Amino acid sequence: MKAMTIHAYGDPDVFRLEDLPLPSPAPGEVLVRVRALSVNPVDTKWRRKGPFGAFPVVLGWDVSGTVEALGDGVSAFEIGDAVFGMVRFPSEGRAYAQYVAAPASHLHRVPTSLGFRDAAAMTLAALTAQQGLTAMRLQAGQTVLIHAAAGGVGHFAVQLAKLRGARVIGTASTRNHDFVRSLGADEVIDYRARPFEEQVERVDAVFDCVGGETQTRSFAVLEPGGTLVTIVGKPSQELAASRGVTAIGFLVHPSNEDLAFLAARVDAAELRPHVSEVLSLEKMADAHRAVESGRTVGKIVLDVE
Ligand SMILES: NC(=O)c1ccc[n+]([C@@H]2O[C@H](COP(=O)([O-])OP(=O)(O)OC[C@H]3O[C@@H](n4cnc5c(N)ncnc54)[C@H](OP(=O)(O)O)[C@@H]3O)[C@@H](O)[C@H]2O)c1
Repeated sequence: MKAMTIHAYGDPDVFRLEDLPLPSPAPGEVLVRVRALSVNPVDTKWRRKGPFGAFPVVLGWDVSGTVEALGDGVSAFEIGDAVFGMVRFPSEGRAYAQYVAAPASHLHRVPTSLGFRDAAAMTLAALTAQQGLTAMRLQAGQTVLIHAAAGGVGHFAVQLAKLRGARVIGTASTRNHDFVRSLGADEVIDYRARPFEEQVERVDAVFDCVGGETQTRSFAVLEPGGTLVTIVGKPSQELAASRGVTAIGFLVHPSNEDLAFLAARVDAAELRPHVSEVLSLEKMADAHRAVESGRTVGKIVLDVE
């Protein structure tokens, strides 16, 4: 099978398209014929510096495709099922390929109303949004500020926070304001024009998809008793204590229960992935360059023939 491999960590030009043996599913796994993939910032970070050891490394966690073979003990799927999921994260995913063997527990059936491209887009980023809002315990009627609302995670977080009945304020560049509003955001702030903390009243919660200074400055906009959830780095517990708020940093985990929730929301027309660009597997380096720009909207997807 064709796979996009790397033999050294580094810039996007480390990718090589080469032939690798077909993987075989271990007990509890299925073999997926990959139809589409999506790329995340974490793919680019790990392409740059690991942490995997033995080369060739095959990156890739976000996948959709069809079940080609079943490992022992798998009863959840049948051959031919269309499936999607975030496989093996945070271990080496090996999904940048025509076939991937993956735990059945990391996959779910593709929602009937979605194609393979959209399904591949609704994996790591959507799981992060769903799990992050759950960690936040966001309640109906609360106001949440979502940083990077136009991005991969942010565009799902806006929709899912609205589904929880929250009032949503998103940060984005002006060119993305209509897009963020179309997701249901009640207010959109241009964080480039003026510091966001000068543009919002106090909020009950912050969903931080940016980190660094944005994260630190976010403590100033939280009501006492509020909650900051960040997906970038570890938030300062000292700052949180001094402000009387809760700060949570977390890492997404595979969950077919959460995938089932997301799939049901899509079939109910309450949630939609946004794919801004579709490339082919051969164009992986271009996909990584685009994601590394930090300016992409929604998700970038690759077709796999
Ligand atoms: N911990 C976890 O489990 C986890 C899971 C997923 C992702 N992450 C991390 O979370 C971060 C976001 O991931 P992602 O997939 O959403 O990224 P992404 O899709 O690459 O985000 C791109 C978006 O970020 C916006 N942006 C950039 N700088 C901004 C700023 N200072 N303020 C507001 N918006 C800004 C851009 O919007 P504009 O062009 O409108 O400015 C762009 O639309 C990455 O660092 C990623 O590695 C962590």
